[in-house]
Amino acid sequence: MQFRARRIGILTGGGDCPGLNAVIRAVTRAARDGYGATVFGIEDGFEGLVEGRMHELSSQAVSGIVGLGGTILGTSSKGDPAHYPVEVSPGKIEIRDLSYKALRNIEQWSIDVLVAIGGDGTMHNALRLSDAGVGVVGVPKTIDNDVPATEVTFGFDSATSVVCAAIDRLETTASSHHRVMVVEVMGRYAGWIALVGGMSSGADLILIPEIAFQWEHVYRKVHERQNQGKRFTIVCVAEGARLPEGDVVVRATDMRRTDSKRLGGVGERVAQCIEQATGYDTRVTVLGHLQRGGSPTVADRVLATRFGVAAAECACKGETGVMVALRDGSVRTVSLADATGPQRTVPPDDELVRAARATGISFGDA
Ligand code: F6P
Repeated sequence: MQFRARRIGILTGGGDCPGLNAVIRAVTRAARDGYGATVFGIEDGFEGLVEGRMHELSSQAVSGIVGLGGTILGTSSKGDPAHYPVEVSPGKIEIRDLSYKALRNIEQWSIDVLVAIGGDGTMHNALRLSDAGVGVVGVPKTIDNDVPATEVTFGFDSATSVVCAAIDRLETTASSHHRVMVVEVMGRYAGWIALVGGMSSGADLILIPEIAFQWEHVYRKVHERQNQGKRFTIVCVAEGARLPEGDVVVRATDMRRTDSKRLGGVGERVAQCIEQATGYDTRVTVLGHLQRGGSPTVADRVLATRFGVAAAECACKGETGVMVALRDGSVRTVSLADATGPQRTVPPDDELVRAARATGISFGDA
């Protein structure tokens, strides 16, 4: 007889982003109404899977959430079952492999297929569970847009819209005061947010992890604009951009996190250097979690819904060990092995980079 999943578990892992609830709604509706499956929401990502926290998702529970930011299930950046932080005594954390607990809960709950919505960390966890015999379907999310094997992740359009709107606002005050405005945006390893956010708002300099910048080129661009009578400059810098004299700027390290480094502070460093070297009044704005919060854009709601429906179909038909992805504009599936390949960073000769350069944007490298 053909496989039909009766019981589907769904979780959201890693940092949240706009569109997660639209996926949860789409998976639940498509699986319940289309296939008669029961859907269970696992709370707080892989933490809830290890700790045994879940509840059934009724159609009422997913009603009215397509445009709601965040995730109704909760999420966590600390719950990798294979590297799970356990407090062994007050303040003393030990990292342990608690995968067996995750597997045991899946079995006890009689979950046929797990739908894991998340970024690269989540896809690695999903692959490990899949290798251990669990039916898993991945759904790619992240504002950073760096998940391999998909052209785009939902959350990215919402985040870049926030960046664009913020820079539009900063530009009017920058031009009034004749200042340099440095805007630090998210993007740990990939500069897509800075690139698209900066291009869409007419930033003058974009500094990203993939293109090494030199101070002399940054200062020259600032002076150039001053000499042209423009008298203000907007610099959009990704949090993961490397300073010419060193590495990325790390705000804190937390071993409980799947990715232990908390980035932040590069904007401040860039602003200080520009002010010191050029003498121009410089200010810095860190957009931080504003980029992750709030309602998804239309594009993200639609992409998240398409991904959710496709994931429900895979789960219900037994196509597992895969991640749904956007390829050539269509929703397809790719293997979890492909989905856990090298991160999708900005190719330095990408057509977007060339378009940005052609319109006068400097990447601080020439
Ligand atoms: O990966 C998404 C992301 O928003 C990164 O751009 C950022 O570095 C990170 O999450 C921040 O994570 P947290 O909210 O856990 O500090």
